[in-house]
Amino acid sequence: MAMNTKHKIAPSLLAADFLHLQQEIERVNNSEADWLHLDIMDGVFVPNISFGFPILDAIRPILKKPMDVHLMVVEPQKFIREVAELGAYLMNVHYEASAHLHRTISAIKETGMKAGVTLNPHTPISLLEDIIQEVDMVLLMSVNPGFGGQRFIEHSVEKTARLKDMITRKGLNTLIEVDGGVNMETAKRLLTAGADVLVAGNFVFKSPNPLQTIKELKAL
Ligand code: DX5
Ligand code: ZN
Repeated sequence: MAMNTKHKIAPSLLAADFLHLQQEIERVNNSEADWLHLDIMDGVFVPNISFGFPILDAIRPILKKPMDVHLMVVEPQKFIREVAELGAYLMNVHYEASAHLHRTISAIKETGMKAGVTLNPHTPISLLEDIIQEVDMVLLMSVNPGFGGQRFIEHSVEKTARLKDMITRKGLNTLIEVDGGVNMETAKRLLTAGADVLVAGNFVFKSPNPLQTIKELKAL
């Protein structure tokens, strides 16, 4: 049904049971998940605080999936080296938090990590016209960042389609990741609109059988 058959699924650790982090990581390892999405918040850029680098360091030895790190912090450029040293595969910084985005993206790529730029729901994709050629991925927020379990913002489907058009028009192979309120129904529509990677927090970890839920999201 979906146009993109090779989409990736990135469960978000934010919705996991932190009291049993080892079991949750092992569950992700044994699943069909492609990446593990890690939400780092500072209580300034977003009105919440999640977890920080010590948690990434703790899970690192047992995690078998690439880390997709989503920094919801002011001045994300300060943490590039730290995130790289933690072994992250991909570092996402918010457009809204980056005055010198080109410099930040270049610095991320110099470490060997993939670079992603993240847009809040209100931030237009037209602002990417002069930077998209430099980034490996665009992360579209389909909820206002800061919390898991929020309601999907419908406009995100159309926004995904317009971003896909921009990428195609420019002849690029930039990935589109969508984050927030993903479930089987929104996932289907996002994939049809051109999403390549879907983040899913509550829908995966709060489901009766997270492995099966990941499998079903992969099978869309
Ligand atoms: C929100 C985070 C998301 C969150 C998604 O600020 O960026 O990654 O974990 O959670 P769900 O899938 O529950 O909306
Ligand atoms: Zn996220």
